[in-house]
Amino acid sequence: SRKIKIAPSILSADFANFGAECRAIEDQGADWVHVDVMDGHFVPNLTFGPAMCAAIRPHIKGVMDVHLMIAPVDPYIEAYAAAGADVISAHLESGPHIHRTLQAIRNTGKKAGLAINPGTGIDAVAHLIDMVDLICVMTVNPGFGGQKFIHSQVDKVRSLRAVIGDRPIHIEIDGGVTVETAPLVAAAGADVLVAGSAVFKGGSVGNPAPYGANIAAI
Ligand code: DX5
Ligand code: ZN
Repeated sequence: SRKIKIAPSILSADFANFGAECRAIEDQGADWVHVDVMDGHFVPNLTFGPAMCAAIRPHIKGVMDVHLMIAPVDPYIEAYAAAGADVISAHLESGPHIHRTLQAIRNTGKKAGLAINPGTGIDAVAHLIDMVDLICVMTVNPGFGGQKFIHSQVDKVRSLRAVIGDRPIHIEIDGGVTVETAPLVAAAGADVLVAGSAVFKGGSVGNPAPYGANIAAI
């Protein structure tokens, strides 16, 4: 069976302690570190620029997985690549030229991810499949951590796995991943699970972080 990777989203981490939070989640079993970049335009929230990504990069030994929820996205790809991202995901809905965007990501030498909102079908994915290393299926409407998992996306994941076949393309799930929902998407064919609130819950400055137990439970 497929090995499932857990990618904690630092959107739910302590914003005053990102270096320590990144080290703690990796020490306690995280496979990747997921960084949610929001622009207050494509999504109704604002988070991290490339300088923040560059600042946390030395605190991450493994994969820095950067999820760009920004439009336009093309002008910023080089900056996030230079900041040390290993995977850069852009949204299919972020503009009319997603194929060009994926080419631009590949041109940086980084892995290219295609993120799709809950309201987006997978028809277009067939025409982009040779451009991507990862497809991120949003299981909440992007913008905030701690939202409820949208169950209608599970069938979409199953269909997507069939479209991908045995190509080496990750299916990443983002939003509302918990002890209850993780098995559903894993069974449908996902292999990377982003989890924000489910990993960071119970953590606080000065307390021994319970992240390892939270990750193991997922
Ligand atoms: C949502 C972000 C997610 C989010 C996940 O817009 O892309 O990565 O932080 O948070 P949880 O796991 O709390 O739903
Ligand atoms: Zn995300």
